[in-house]
Amino acid sequence: MAGSYSLTTAIDYVNSSPHLGHAYEKVLADFFARHQRSLEANVLFLTGVDEHGQKVQQSAQREGIEPQAFCDEMSARFASLHKSLGVSSSKFVRTTNAGHKVVVREWLQKLHDKGEIFFQEHEGFYSVRQEQFVTEKDKVDGQWPEIFGEVIETKEPNYYFRLEPYRARLLQHLADHPEFIVPGFRRNELLGALEKPLDDLCISRPKSRLTWGIPLPFDENYVTYVWFDALVNYYSFATVDGVLRWPPDLQIIGKDILIPAHGVYWPIMLMALDLPLPKHLLVHGFWTNSGAKISKSNAKSLVDPVPYVEKFGPDALRFFVLREMVLGQDADFSDERFETRYQSDLGKKLGNLVQRTLSMIGRYREGRVPLYDGFHLAPADDVLRSDDVVEDYRRAVDQFAPHLALQAVWELVQRANQYVEETAPFKLAKDPAQAKRLDVVLAHLAETIRRLSVLIQAALPFTAEKIRAQFQLPAGPVNLSEAKFGNSLRDHVIGQPVILFPPLDEKTP
Ligand code: ME8
Ligand code: MG
Repeated sequence: MAGSYSLTTAIDYVNSSPHLGHAYEKVLADFFARHQRSLEANVLFLTGVDEHGQKVQQSAQREGIEPQAFCDEMSARFASLHKSLGVSSSKFVRTTNAGHKVVVREWLQKLHDKGEIFFQEHEGFYSVRQEQFVTEKDKVDGQWPEIFGEVIETKEPNYYFRLEPYRARLLQHLADHPEFIVPGFRRNELLGALEKPLDDLCISRPKSRLTWGIPLPFDENYVTYVWFDALVNYYSFATVDGVLRWPPDLQIIGKDILIPAHGVYWPIMLMALDLPLPKHLLVHGFWTNSGAKISKSNAKSLVDPVPYVEKFGPDALRFFVLREMVLGQDADFSDERFETRYQSDLGKKLGNLVQRTLSMIGRYREGRVPLYDGFHLAPADDVLRSDDVVEDYRRAVDQFAPHLALQAVWELVQRANQYVEETAPFKLAKDPAQAKRLDVVLAHLAETIRRLSVLIQAALPFTAEKIRAQFQLPAGPVNLSEAKFGNSLRDHVIGQPVILFPPLDEKTP
C-alpha cells in the first residue's frame, strides 16, 4: 500500500516579483509531488511566501502602502505564477496567516520556558540586507562582502537562542544520516561550517526598528526575527484535517540558504523542541543569465518567467528547467538554449512523433488502434517493447536527477522516431501484403505514446493531458506502473491530432 509523502519548498520573499530561480524551485518540487502521486502516495506539498521582515516593510514604505496590502498584492503574483505553471501544491503558505503566527509564538514560548532563549545587550555590526548581526570573521579581505549590503554598528538588547549546545548532536545526526543533505558535497560544506563553535542566534528585533513581524509572546516590545518565523512555516502548515504530517520527507531549498538557515538553525530548532528532522534537505544550484546570477538585486540579469510561459506554454518552461539543470549544480539560461530545447526536444521530437502517429492511424486505420498477433512481430519492435525506460526513469528520480529521468524518456522518444524511419509505415501502407505488419507498427507507436503520456506526467503535466485527450484516454494522474509496455489500446478509437508545440515562426508576434 502506498504511504504518505510530504514535501516543502523555500518560501519566497515578497519584496519583489518572482524570477526564474523561484519558478524553478517550485517546478522541481511539483515534479517530485506529481511523481509521488503517480506512486499513489498521499502527498502533502507546501509552498508559498515569506512575508515579514525589514525588506518587506521597506518595500511597502517605498510604495506608500501598508505592509499587509503590499503582501497581499505581491503574494497574488507568486500564487498566479504557480497556477500558470501547474504547481499542484496542497496549500499556498503565507506567513501572515493567523494560524502560523500562533504556532511561531508557541514555539518561542516553549523554547523560552525551557531556558533555551536568553536576553542580552549586544554591541556589534548588523547587515541590513541579510537582516542579521555579522562579526569581524564574516569579513573577506578586511571588507564586508557584497551580500551583506549596508553594514551598520548598533547597540541593543535582544533575545538569543543558544545553538552551540546542539552542535555535537547535529554532527551526530549528519554522521548517522548521510542522506540528510543532498547532494553530498553540500553535506561536506555543512560539516565544515560545524567545525567551529556556533554563535547564539538573535531571534528578536526591537519594534523601534522593525514593526512588521510576529510579536514575541514574552516581550511585546520585540518582533520575531524573520528567519525564525519563516522556518516555522514547514510545521505550522503541516496539519491536514487535524492530523500533523511530520517530519517532511523532502525539503527543497537553494544553495544560498543551506548555511546557516536550513543546515544549522532549522535542525537545531527542531532538536530543541524534540521534533524529528526532515528526511532529506535537497539543495539546488542557481540559475544564471549569460553567466550572471539571477537575483532580485540584479535587474540586468533578471529573468521573468511569465513571458516565457505566455509565449511557449508552461510545459516548455518546466521542461527547460528540469532537463537543463543538473540538480545541485548551477545552470545558465539563454533565449537561444530555451528555443533550442523547445524546437528540438519538444517540437521536432515529441510533438512530431505524437502528431504523425495520430495522423497515420487516422489515415490508414480510420482512427482505430489496430489489433495484431505475434506472428508479425519483428526484431525492430523490441526496442519499443522494452521496459528499461521505466526502470531508468525511476532510478533517476530516486536519485534526485530529473534531468536524467527526462533524458531516459527522450531516448524512448528518439527510438520511436527512428522506428518510424526504419519501419516506414507510409511504404507499408502501399502494399496490401504488408497490412498485418502495418498493424503491428501502428499499434506499437500508439502504445509508445500512451506510455510516454505516463512517463512525462510529472514533468509536463499539461502535455501529458493533451496527449491523453487526443488519444481519448481517461485523464491522469496515472499510476507509474502503467508506463510498462502492454497492449491496452487494442481496437481503441483515438481522436484528431492537435499541434502540441507550434513552430516558433508561427508564434512570434
Ligand atoms: O531565501 N536560481 O527567499 P528568496 C535558483 N524567504 N534558485 C534561486 C535563485 C536562482 N537564481 N535565486 C533565489 C528566501 N533562488 C527566504 C526563504 S524558507 C523558510 C525562507 C531560490 O525569495 C533561493 O535559493 O530570497 C531560495 O531557495 C528561494 O529561491 C527563495 O529565495
Ligand atoms: Mg534570496
